[in-house]
Formats: sequence, structure tokens, C-alpha cells
Amino acid sequence: MDSSEPLRMAVVIGSNREGRLGETVAQWFLRTIAPLGGLEIDTVDLAELDLHTSIRVEPSPAQAISHRVAAADAFVFVTPEYNHSYPASIKTFIDLHVEEWCGKAVGFVSYGGIAGGLRSVEALRLVFASLNAATVRNTVSFANAWNQFIDGEPIDPVRSAAAAESLVGQMKWWGHALRNARREAVLTSGQE
Ligand SMILES: Cc1cc2nc3c(=O)[nH]c(=O)nc-3n(C[C@H](O)[C@H](O)[C@H](O)COP(=O)(O)O)c2cc1C
Repeated sequence: MDSSEPLRMAVVIGSNREGRLGETVAQWFLRTIAPLGGLEIDTVDLAELDLHTSIRVEPSPAQAISHRVAAADAFVFVTPEYNHSYPASIKTFIDLHVEEWCGKAVGFVSYGGIAGGLRSVEALRLVFASLNAATVRNTVSFANAWNQFIDGEPIDPVRSAAAAESLVGQMKWWGHALRNARREAVLTSGQE
């Protein structure tokens, strides 16, 4: 597998809620993975996007994000858990695109209460399966997340960094494998 070319990985900050914890979690993740190498990171903050629009109607502000989604080989969603699932902002963002997800790797950094946001992750796996995207197994997860960060840093930095590195390792494997496969043959969403 050709991994000499960096993997283009978009990190999506999923919560667009005022006062969100997601910013803290995402900034920690971005800082942690920055030195790992082999990645070209694009940070997509859903709080900065106009999600009340469509890429299929021209002109649309959402089209500005579409080329970044299309250019990415892989995505890490930083997702909280709301009512045992993921936020509406993430679903709206996913639904703006179809073929752009196809044949790509998707991973998760999740946070929430007792379940650490993992119910969001499991729900998102179903959505991405329907879009022909491959979700990776390992996650970074923060249970009772509001108690897990002090001054922007996790209270267990070693465990958290190890989880982030493990996730990135799987993202690289799947991301490169799928990028090579996409270059050999076109995979479509299968949606009519
Ligand atoms: C509307 C709402 C529903 C929530 N539901 C759950 C839930 O079902 N399970 C859970 O573990 N945490 C739940 N929480 C707690 C959130 O996961 C936690 O507040 C998290 O920090 C929210 O992410 P954000 O601050 O980045 O938006 C909920 C929070 C909100 C605002």
C-alpha cells in the first residue's frame, strides 16, 4: 500500500451548541495527533457552517464545504451524545453529501455521560454503512466528559493519547487501503 503520500483526514467538530464541550475535546485531539506525521489535517467545525441549506440548490453556502469533504480520504467525527444518539448538526452535515463519503474511512472521538458517547458512535456506524463508508473499530471515548478535562487537557493524558494514537493508526491503515482501492476502481454510493 502506498502510504508515502499523507492521508488527508478531516476532523469534524460535531457539536454546534453554544458553550459546547466539543471544542475542548476536538482541540485536544488535534494537538495530540499533530506530531504523529503522515496526515494532512483539515478541521471542519460545524458551528461555522450554514447547515440550513442544500448543496443541490445553487448558489448555496454549503457548497463551500463540499470540495473539502470530497478531497478528504478519511474523517474523524468528534461527537457528543444527545438523547442516546448523535446531534442533529452531524446528521444534517452527513445528509448534505452522498458520493463524497463513499469508499472512505470514518472514525470517532466521542464524549458524553456514562456511555462516553458510544451510543452516538454505534448509531453513526449504521448511517455510514448506508453510505458505503467504512468505520474503524477503535474509538477515543470520554465518559462523564465534563469531569475529564482540566484547562483543556484530559485528566488521564497518557491513556487518552494512547487511544488517539490507536485510532489514528487504524485510520491510516483503512484510509490508505481505501484510497488505493478508489484509485483502482470507482465505488459509487449505490443510491439511485
Ligand atoms: C440535549 C442533550 C441531551 C443529552 N443526552 C445525553 C444522553 O442521552 N446521554 C449522555 O451520556 N449524555 C447526554 N447529554 C450530555 C452531553 O453528552 C454532554 O453535555 C456533552 O458535553 C454535550 O456536548 P457539547 O457540549 O459539545 O454540545 C445530553 C446533553 C444535551 C444538551
